[in-house]
Amino acid sequence: MSGSMAGPVLEVDDLRVQLRTPRGTAHVVNGLSYTVGPGETVAVVGESGSGKSVSVLALLGLLPPRVATVTGRALLEGEDLLAMSPERLRQVRGPGAGMVFQDPMTSLNPVLTVGKQIVEGLRAHADVSKEAARRRAAELLAEVGLPDPEGALDRYPHELSGGMRQRVVIAIALSNSPSLLIADEATTALDVTVQAQIIDLVEKLQADHGTGVIWITHDLGVVAGIADRVLVMYGGRCVEDGTVDDVLERPAHPYTRGLLGSLPDLAAPVGPDGELPDLTTVPGLPPAPTDLPTGCVFWPRCPVRGDARCETEQPPLVVVPRGQKGHFGPELPHRAATWCGG
Ligand SMILES: Nc1ncnc2c1ncn2[C@@H]1O[C@H](COP(=O)(O)OP(=O)(O)O)[C@@H](O)[C@H]1O
Ligand SMILES: [Mg+2]
Repeated sequence: MSGSMAGPVLEVDDLRVQLRTPRGTAHVVNGLSYTVGPGETVAVVGESGSGKSVSVLALLGLLPPRVATVTGRALLEGEDLLAMSPERLRQVRGPGAGMVFQDPMTSLNPVLTVGKQIVEGLRAHADVSKEAARRRAAELLAEVGLPDPEGALDRYPHELSGGMRQRVVIAIALSNSPSLLIADEATTALDVTVQAQIIDLVEKLQADHGTGVIWITHDLGVVAGIADRVLVMYGGRCVEDGTVDDVLERPAHPYTRGLLGSLPDLAAPVGPDGELPDLTTVPGLPPAPTDLPTGCVFWPRCPVRGDARCETEQPPLVVVPRGQKGHFGPELPHRAATWCGG
């Protein structure tokens, strides 16, 4: 099923974000380009500090304008988010693009009941009566697995547990059937059963409305379970992207191989039932965005660096040559930015 437009839901082109900090200019996002198709889920992975959150906050105009300089293009169903007026952006957030953060209190109003917040969201973008909106709100809370959804409508956010609050935020994000949903570590704090329930709901939304999803997570099990494609971020750049099979099974960039534990001395511990672990820690520290290395952004930590260009020349993101075996179906590009050829 596809969305209202034939093209991608989101098309990000050369997104750059600089932040003014006491230590100088932080180059947090450095030329990020990707697309999200209708009904498609793109998982964004990478260590803490790689610019994942800032890159999506920039899309929705949620960075403080005095601190952040954002350039590039980000077409949401053909309309550039980065060129929109603040008024237009406010209209678009909700029915156009919904976002769920790790901390639910950043999105909930502490002085309004849960019911009032969901009802207001529903009525801001659709012509429905208060009573119908309240019924729909209770339905949504039931769908995200809240026990006693009717009762929850009259509670204030602080009266709910953290997990309950997060489910309320997810219900609000799903309530307008957005064409783009951004989840930033949205289910990290929830137990696996609830997490699976939410993932089912998101998949249903995608099937019904062609919603494109950006899912930021460090949980490889979640990536393998929901992603169509994976984008690996490091130092504010995409160092590798491709289908979930290509990236998880045939990683081409040494950083991705490090995260997946497939570098020789970084074997990832596999759980007792064979479940996938969280991303592995790569030895060393990620670069400070105020002081990015020249050349390949990963070379100071790279266990296989060797090409003379590693330290001097930034490798472009290029298509990884296909092996002879194991590729079926449509040839979606698999790209990596490295001089070492894997
Ligand atoms: N408001 C801010 N002011 C200054 N630096 C920031 C701000 N927000 C994030 N950063 C810096 O930007 C970089 C990327 O952060 P972030 O996008 O949160 O990473 P991730 O989500 O991948 O963990 C980090 O180095 C972080 O310290
Ligand atoms: Mg983050």
